[in-house]
Amino acid sequence: MTTPLENAERACRGKAVLVTGAAGFIGSHVCELALEGGARRVLGLDNFVSGLPRNLDPFRNDPRFDFTEGDVRDFNTIAPLVREADLVIHEAASKLVASRDNPRVDLETNILGTFNVLEAAREKAVPVVHVSTGSVLGNAPEGSMREDHPKRPSTLYGISKSAGEEYALFYAREFGVPARVIRYFHVFGPRQDYSGDAGVVSIFLARAMRGQTLFIHGSGEQIRCFTFVRDTVAATFLLAAREDTLGEVYNVASRNRVSVKELAGIVLERYGAAGASIEHDAPRPGENLRPIPLTEKIESLGWKAMVSFDEGLEATAEWVRATL
Ligand SMILES: NC(=O)c1ccc[n+]([C@@H]2O[C@H](COP(=O)([O-])OP(=O)(O)OC[C@H]3O[C@@H](n4cnc5c(N)ncnc54)[C@H](O)[C@@H]3O)[C@@H](O)[C@H]2O)c1
Repeated sequence: MTTPLENAERACRGKAVLVTGAAGFIGSHVCELALEGGARRVLGLDNFVSGLPRNLDPFRNDPRFDFTEGDVRDFNTIAPLVREADLVIHEAASKLVASRDNPRVDLETNILGTFNVLEAAREKAVPVVHVSTGSVLGNAPEGSMREDHPKRPSTLYGISKSAGEEYALFYAREFGVPARVIRYFHVFGPRQDYSGDAGVVSIFLARAMRGQTLFIHGSGEQIRCFTFVRDTVAATFLLAAREDTLGEVYNVASRNRVSVKELAGIVLERYGAAGASIEHDAPRPGENLRPIPLTEKIESLGWKAMVSFDEGLEATAEWVRATL
């Protein structure tokens, strides 16, 4: 077992690391841990479509951090940044709810944007960690979702992210780009935006603390394997540090199993202000009810979630309280 910092040191020490989606929830933690791990430079790129400038505050004054406001859909923006990098962590994406509202942006960001990163990386064989999602798999019975489980995405987001994975694997196989794919599942923690439609932990916490209603979409029986953001980022750097991960796909999730209904109950009990309550509304179209992956593949490399659900929830609650 290696710690998040050890993984970051192995992957980043002395290197220039490009992080796309740097102002996002997870991307900002990637930047922060890369700097902690001794990166020579961290190049951040974001167009702020869902990322927030305040997410950069903890490290924006670090002289090793260099931010570009720009778009992964624009090859002329991304190519010079990739050329400067020794490692690319490709986090930028259009997300689930946005994919329904604007399928074209979803396609362009998640497919063309990924293509641009890979095409730029091809020139100098720059190593890439391509970030994907459990949503590529679609609904499947618990216990069956290994990395090679057949993909049947039930959302446009899942479709575009699935195509992004295939591009990354093709570029690794056919063009020798040192790329691998990591699939995240239900990441939570500080800086996860609670003003939008995604990130149920932060949304429930913010609404409970404000004395508002926590809306559960559908029955609330849907299961989530909530994984704390620092553990997720640690897994990302673990893959970046190991050559034997090239051309491979890894699921990353904790062994937590919490239903959305349970989560609402816990949050209401621990953090609910006067007036806070729970209600059910319509189920979300295409929602996966049991997106539970098998994670032995990354665990066999020495990764394990180190932050318990309760510790992570408390850390997230502290951040939500401080930013409300
Ligand atoms: N949060 C989760 O639970 C979860 C689960 C599975 C996979 N993921 C994946 O993790 C990655 C990060 O997600 P997140 O939760 O931090 O979301 P996020 O929205 O906070 O971060 C994504 C970032 O990408 C930026 N971005 C979007 N389109 C862009 C473009 N065209 N050019 C430049 N920047 C652009 C956004 O502004 C944002 O800062 C994504 O690839 C997502 O698919 C997240």
